[in-house]
Amino acid sequence: MRLDKMISECGIASRSEIAKAARAGGITVNGIPIRRPDVKVDPAKDKVVYRGNAVVWRRFAYLMLNKPDGYISATEDGRGDPVVTDLLPPEYRKMGVFPCGRLDKHTLGLMLLTNDGTLSHHLLAPKSHVTKSYGFCVKFPLSDEDIAALERGVDIGGYVTKPCRITLKGEREGVIEITEGKYHQIKLMMEAVHNQITHLERLTFGPLSLDPALARGEWRELTSDEILQLTQATFQIK
Ligand code: URA
Repeated sequence: MRLDKMISECGIASRSEIAKAARAGGITVNGIPIRRPDVKVDPAKDKVVYRGNAVVWRRFAYLMLNKPDGYISATEDGRGDPVVTDLLPPEYRKMGVFPCGRLDKHTLGLMLLTNDGTLSHHLLAPKSHVTKSYGFCVKFPLSDEDIAALERGVDIGGYVTKPCRITLKGEREGVIEITEGKYHQIKLMMEAVHNQITHLERLTFGPLSLDPALARGEWRELTSDEILQLTQATFQIK
């Protein structure tokens, strides 16, 4: 692959910055200064050093973030609201990391971010049936009939939700597990039983749980085992 592609995909610098650094002798490959950014390198074998720092090549980044209130699940927002990628260091934004699915502006908790479009697509594909669980609070007590209706499926505006599971923790709070991700799904489900969400927080996404060590707004990279678990979750035959 081209030297400038390798370095830029790591989020270290833009192609034009790389061309400039190469001209100035700031890039070496296996110890030899390389002045042309289009030379071919083998990222697995060649030792590339950019302005004194070894470049560890990787194409994809996988992150877990504890989404705080008020952030939009996007990489930019036309109205100037803060977006979840604002919470990441610039190298991830340069790598093209984006949120895997949406959480509403006021929903908190587990958000996955990656630049791996294939994995993201598979995780969100309805046929993958990846389960997500959310802790919730509602305005009014939920009756047994409400729970039965929600678990069976309710009409959220021309679409009847698939069966889900609810575990109540009190008469106005609990955990709901869903296997789909329609726009405002849980909010609309509660409205369908004449109730209102007052707090919503994603706790799990497929096999992964929100890391309790992450405060709101904090993030960390997924471990290789977590990435494997996510990939496997999309291959399971349901
Ligand atoms: N359901 C909602 O209503 N909002 C979310 O953010 C996620 C699921």
